[in-house]
Amino acid sequence: MSLAHSTAAAIYLDTNRVISPISPLVFSGFIEHMGRAVYEGIFDPASPHADANGLRTDVLAVLREVNYRAMRYPGGNFLSGYRWLDGVGPRDQRPRRRDLAWQTLETNQFGTNEFIEFCRQINTEPMLGVNMGTGTIQDAANLVEYCNAPTGTQYADLRAAHGYAEPHNVKLWCVGNEMDGPWQIGHLEAAEYGAKAREAAKMMRWHDPSIQLVLCGSSSTFMPTYPEWDRITLELAWDQVDYHSMHYYANNRDNDTDSYLALTAEFESFVDTLTGVLRYVKAKTRSKHDVYLSWDEWNVWYKATTPDDFRGNWKEAPHLSEEVYNLEDALVVAQWMNVFLRRADVVKIACVAQAVNTISPIHTTRDAVLKHTTYYPIMLFSKLASGIALDVGVKSPHYETQKFGAMPLLDVSASYDEATGASAVFIVNRSQSESLPVTLRWEDRAPQQIDAVHQMSGSDPKAFNSLETPGMIVPQRVAPPAVVDGSAEMVLPPLSFTVLELHL
Ligand code: AHR
Repeated sequence: MSLAHSTAAAIYLDTNRVISPISPLVFSGFIEHMGRAVYEGIFDPASPHADANGLRTDVLAVLREVNYRAMRYPGGNFLSGYRWLDGVGPRDQRPRRRDLAWQTLETNQFGTNEFIEFCRQINTEPMLGVNMGTGTIQDAANLVEYCNAPTGTQYADLRAAHGYAEPHNVKLWCVGNEMDGPWQIGHLEAAEYGAKAREAAKMMRWHDPSIQLVLCGSSSTFMPTYPEWDRITLELAWDQVDYHSMHYYANNRDNDTDSYLALTAEFESFVDTLTGVLRYVKAKTRSKHDVYLSWDEWNVWYKATTPDDFRGNWKEAPHLSEEVYNLEDALVVAQWMNVFLRRADVVKIACVAQAVNTISPIHTTRDAVLKHTTYYPIMLFSKLASGIALDVGVKSPHYETQKFGAMPLLDVSASYDEATGASAVFIVNRSQSESLPVTLRWEDRAPQQIDAVHQMSGSDPKAFNSLETPGMIVPQRVAPPAVVDGSAEMVLPPLSFTVLELHL
């Protein structure tokens, strides 16, 4: 890694430089019927921690701490073969089925009503998906009736018969999952999906005009149909939807940590491109309506490499894609969340994929929960970023990367909550070897003091937490620097994520 030392690092903060309010929904999660996310993850009657409904109380406690604002469910690829009626009603009458997406035995012991109960337990908004693979637009509309309509008609009465006389009032709905992918059950071409999604959305809204709908966007920037898929589907369904989804899984397969730590270049370019598509389609359709981005699957996912990481061999709750995250992964996750703040004008929903066990920041055994390194940046952003995102001025030395050329060593975002005066600054030092002295300068109003500094760092980018050593990579409280004449000086260790908490 070569450093250009000529630039002194500085961060300029000004509460007049506003990007946009931060949508709390960017701190959301995703639970799919995949591997041990649902079974053994959140629902495990055999665990000593299970409550009367079989929910894992220790997992619920951790999820409450993260405070996911919405939870997407039930998939994922699973969604595109899911018959929602399988998962409601008396448990002993629910069918056992082969889930073709993950080649897993699905018992249907956990379904829509159990998911709603789970969401209530962790105080999160349910975000339900409707099947656009094998499912019809009628099935999609029936599920909205089941969840949201007052009693008096077939599916609402079925809900009441299942113990829920009051509607669930589910507001957020995904119209299918990754329908651009040939791997998807019932994959469609863009024009077919756009038209089907539009018709499903119309029927769903006729049941409940207050719902908000997410159209399936590109599954990644690597899709050959990207970004034409996005243009075509949006042109067909624009006025019927509120959000357009984007999915992306990051990897360091080449073991090129310098480039890996600069992946925000890729994330921001994905947002830029889709923002351009949104503007184009709004203009072309002459619409007054706005559509925003829902980054409803994002995470690091690449260490799972064997076929058994992706297919369950028809077992119940197989161990699929249980990634172990290390320090460099946590730094990528922290920067990803910096992007959510920097692009708060257009990214309004973001769901970590997934919330428990499968590609997840937390891992369960029958009687324990482990927090991986990536848990901590997710929790710190969710807890501390509120109000508006600030357009931060950053001066930083650069370093060379193979994939993205020269990149700044610092990656920064900041929030300011006018209602409480609380502000937070989130800083990653991407250098693998160099500590970086940095000046923080408050341009309009300055804090009296920094209330707290949380810092994750380490010398080994591959260091990780385990059940034996759960505290290997966790945030430490470090002494806050003094604020003198509106400035503070800090030295950021290499490979570090630092969060400053203060009031303005
Ligand atoms: O989250 C795992 C899988 O990744 C989801 O099922 C699918 O939507 C994506 O390809």
